[in-house]
Amino acid sequence: MAVDVLLGLQWGDEGKGKIVDVLCPNYDLVARFQGGPNAGHTLEFDGKKFVLNTIPSGIFNNRSLNLIGNGVVIDPIILKRELTQLKVAGYDPVVSQKLFIAKKAHLILPTHQLLDAANEQKMGEAKIGSTLKGIGPTYMDKTGRNGLRVGDIHLSDFMAKYKKLVEKHQSILKNYAFEYDLAEKEKIFFEAIEFLKTIPLVDGEHFVNHYIRSGKSVLAEGAQGTMLDIDFGSYPFVTSSNTTTAGACTGLGIAPKTIGAVIGIFKAYCTRVGGGPFPTELDNEIGEQLRKIGHEFGATTGRARRCGWIDLPALKYAIMLNGVTELVMTKADVLSGFDDIYVCTHYDYEGQTIDYMPYDISTIAPKPILEKVAGWHEDLTNIHQMHQIPQKLWDYIHYLESALDTPITYLSVGPDRSQTLKLK
Ligand code: GDP
Ligand code: IMO
Ligand code: MG
Repeated sequence: MAVDVLLGLQWGDEGKGKIVDVLCPNYDLVARFQGGPNAGHTLEFDGKKFVLNTIPSGIFNNRSLNLIGNGVVIDPIILKRELTQLKVAGYDPVVSQKLFIAKKAHLILPTHQLLDAANEQKMGEAKIGSTLKGIGPTYMDKTGRNGLRVGDIHLSDFMAKYKKLVEKHQSILKNYAFEYDLAEKEKIFFEAIEFLKTIPLVDGEHFVNHYIRSGKSVLAEGAQGTMLDIDFGSYPFVTSSNTTTAGACTGLGIAPKTIGAVIGIFKAYCTRVGGGPFPTELDNEIGEQLRKIGHEFGATTGRARRCGWIDLPALKYAIMLNGVTELVMTKADVLSGFDDIYVCTHYDYEGQTIDYMPYDISTIAPKPILEKVAGWHEDLTNIHQMHQIPQKLWDYIHYLESALDTPITYLSVGPDRSQTLKLK
């Protein structure tokens, strides 16, 4: 058995949560492998809506167990809030023993968030536009070998380690003109740590490999998107983890040879939230229209998402980096009603026509070279069968499949679980 990987190919918010929810009945285990509560994965079904930040999107499925992998960074306060919300809604993964956490996942401390905020404030206009969840500072402490791991909460020296790290953070914070009050946050943090002790911690790498060896199926759920990858994204306007397929190996402790299908999710257009380059951005009425129709406001921060046309050089790059074997196109319904749709096929990079993502995308903005494609006017939100797909949308699907040399196996036409068509 293999581990299938599902991840975003753009700048995040492609609809990963929804598609994991649709596909997870096929899997015994769903495992998040990187990122943290910077993610907001939205699921809608039976008239209900949930936004998950840390918990894998297989949590509502009866079959699958869910693992928060070692590559994830966990804010206990946010995790407690998520689990409490689920409990109130009648789902209690703790009671039903559906949620496990890898001991080697790192903890986000209140001071990590303060450092994130202080740093962003200092950068002013040049800021990353982070989600202010403490992601960058937590991964810095992980790679700097100072971090606290979830498994540490059961060890006798946890408080000593905590204090040592907080002291270090406070000495860094002295260099910023940044006011803060830690006491209140710490109180909630330690309450959440006590709550965390009620959730089973496992050696995630053994847990997943045992599943693989015993012939069970595993789905690795990515967060953010390929263009936010720490190594290959639009650096420095990226997140602090590997959002690509390779991240599933290090974020779960699985060998590359165990990877099976790689399912790449992309929107029928493109969005990004926060700062940084976005070649196909539409800073005009059309962009505004896409934002309005697509409800393009962040699931985690509520910020307006920047909107633009689909970007093929970026998608080709993402497909290459991830070894994508199949594609899922979401939000096709949002494009209904546009007479013309545009596709960025190449970039004009300082007068040169190129079809790849240049190194210095963050300093020299490539201009998109756009090709016009006929739009469709039919409302897609109620279609459930392939024969109901308008011809112009088929044309768009076939155009993209050919340009990207990868099959589109699912089409999403609305936020609800039921608004999904299997194409192949
Ligand atoms: P994720 O972070 O990749 O899981 O995506 P988000 O949940 O942050 O953002 C996707 C948003 O689009 C959510 O509000 C979803 O409910 C919604 N969504 C997902 N698929 C579709 C779709 O096909 N059509 C429409 N209109 N909305 C969708
Ligand atoms: P999901 O999983 C969209 C963006 C932030 C910022 C940059 C760095 O819901 O797709 P960070 O807080 O990670 O240090 O912020 O990355 N970002 C996301 N954008 N979707 C996400 O997650 C994101 N997680 C982080 O806006 O530009
Ligand atoms: Mg999201």
